Amino acid sequence: MGDLDHLFENNKKWAKGLLDGEPEFFSKLSKQQNPKYLWIGCADSRVPANQIVDLPPGEVFVHRNIANMVVHTDFNCLSVMQYAVEVLNIDHIIVCGHYGCGGIASAMGSDDHGLIDNWLRHIKDVERFNVDELRGLSEQEQLNRLCELNVVEQVTNVCNTTIVRDARRAGENLSVHGWIYDIGNGILKDLQQTSK
Ligand code: CO
Repeated sequence: MGDLDHLFENNKKWAKGLLDGEPEFFSKLSKQQNPKYLWIGCADSRVPANQIVDLPPGEVFVHRNIANMVVHTDFNCLSVMQYAVEVLNIDHIIVCGHYGCGGIASAMGSDDHGLIDNWLRHIKDVERFNVDELRGLSEQEQLNRLCELNVVEQVTNVCNTTIVRDARRAGENLSVHGWIYDIGNGILKDLQQTSK
C-alpha cells in the first residue's frame, strides 16, 4: 500500500459517480473542451475554482498562482490567457482573490521568505499605490482591503495585456471581472470592477 493510495481510490469513486449520472461524460469531454470562463485565482488550497462555482470538468479554464497576480511579463499567465481568448474563445475572464490571503499578508509584513519575496514585491506595489486609503485602517481591515485592491489592480493588468486589447480591437465580446471569495463562509462577492 502506498501513502497516496487513498487518492486513487477517491479518483475511482469520483469518476464512477460522474459516469453513473451521465455514462457519456468522459467520452464526450475527451473530444473537446468548450469553457466559457477563464479563472485567474490564488493557489491557496481553500480556493478551488470549479468547486466554488459548482461547475464540472470542462467548464472553467484555470490559472492559479500565489495571490492571483497578473504580472505584465509572466509568460505562464499570459500564455494561459492567450490560449483561453484566442483558441478557446472564452467570454469571461474572472480574477478571483480571497480574504485572508497568505500571499498578501506576507507582502504586508517585513519578514524574509526567500525567493517568493520577489513575487510578493508586486503586492507591495499595490499597497504603495493605495497607501492613503489603507492608512488608518486596523491591521485586519488593511489585509482584507488590500486583498480587494489587489483584485482591482489585477483586473486592470488583464485589460492592459496585448491579448485583451487585441481581442477588443477585433470586436470580440470579452468581459473581465473582479471577484473576492470569503474563505470564512464560502461566499463569492463581485467587486463591481467588470470591464466590457
Ligand atoms: Co491567497
